[in-house]
Amino acid sequence: MHAMIDLRSDTVTRPTPEMRRAMAEAEVGDDVLGDDPTIQRLEEMAAARLGKEAALFVPSGTMGNNIAIKTHTRPGDEILLDREAHSMCYEVGGPAALAGALTRQFRSHRGVPDLREIEESIVPATLHAPGTALIVLENTHNRAGGAVIPLSIHREIYAMARSRGVRVHLDGARLFNAAVASGHSAAEFAAQADSVSFCLSKGLGCPVGSVLCGTRAFIEQARRVRKLLGGGMRQAGVLAACGIVALQTMVDRLAEDHRNARILAEGIADLPGISLDLLTVQTNMVYCDTQRPAEEIVARLQERQVLCLALGANRIRLVTHHDVDREDIERAIRAFESALCQQT
Ligand SMILES: Cc1ncc(COP(=O)(O)O)c(C=O)c1O
Repeated sequence: MHAMIDLRSDTVTRPTPEMRRAMAEAEVGDDVLGDDPTIQRLEEMAAARLGKEAALFVPSGTMGNNIAIKTHTRPGDEILLDREAHSMCYEVGGPAALAGALTRQFRSHRGVPDLREIEESIVPATLHAPGTALIVLENTHNRAGGAVIPLSIHREIYAMARSRGVRVHLDGARLFNAAVASGHSAAEFAAQADSVSFCLSKGLGCPVGSVLCGTRAFIEQARRVRKLLGGGMRQAGVLAACGIVALQTMVDRLAEDHRNARILAEGIADLPGISLDLLTVQTNMVYCDTQRPAEEIVARLQERQVLCLALGANRIRLVTHHDVDREDIERAIRAFESALCQQT
């Protein structure tokens, strides 16, 4: 049980005692000079786990996506991505600003893209048209409430993309949530993309870091782009050490976060003034719409020691993670009941 129940994001997780020990004891070197053994170990572990040839430790999921997009494209190339994708909405225009990519957006239903729409959006390069170089997919899908894109959809899109000579990057910030929820391995999803990034600093509990995986040639180029963006780090083995602990100890327990999200969603779905589609609650996120302004409900919840985010005028997001236990969830439900009953 925690004094403040922080449901704003799974990024608020603090490093576990085992991570802190691993940090203190990490063997380090200068990674830009290529001799940090702990980073190398994390990169090897991550590549093996995702069934890719090589991997690159990067400071954040945002940088992982931007490096991937810049590495796969040339300025002016077109990239296809969900209009609700994190890369589209929350990365400060990175694809345009850093890669010079033209973005064409597609729609998805509860996070699941439509193969036909994507296929019809592909344009070959001509004298006039820039040409589609890359499709960016996201799993789990953040703005679709942590929805899992089924593996079968990835298979269809990747087969189509390959037949059209278009590459696929998977923003797998929460790929392990998708794996745990679907029963498929992260490698099965990764096999359906040319590159994949996943975050260590979300549900896996690390303080910092993401990993970008792909072919050896792709990662070699990506390493240069990371340097260009100022993401080359020196004795960052202290951070990679947490990533190693995370891959060893924090993946299977994500199922507990998913159970807690479901209990929370079911506990608040029928409260007056709340509208919640339980079908969207597939992993560790709960999105709900509020009759009263979301900011007002968020403030009332904060008075009751529950933190969450307003993601729109009438939309609230709640995310479960390692630092929230079952008892906290029960308290959060009671806080919701009381916040919604409060007379204005
Ligand atoms: C789907 C998705 N991709 C990328 C990111 C970016 O990660 P970071 O905050 O580490 O830059 C996030 C962060 O929430 C995310 O949800």
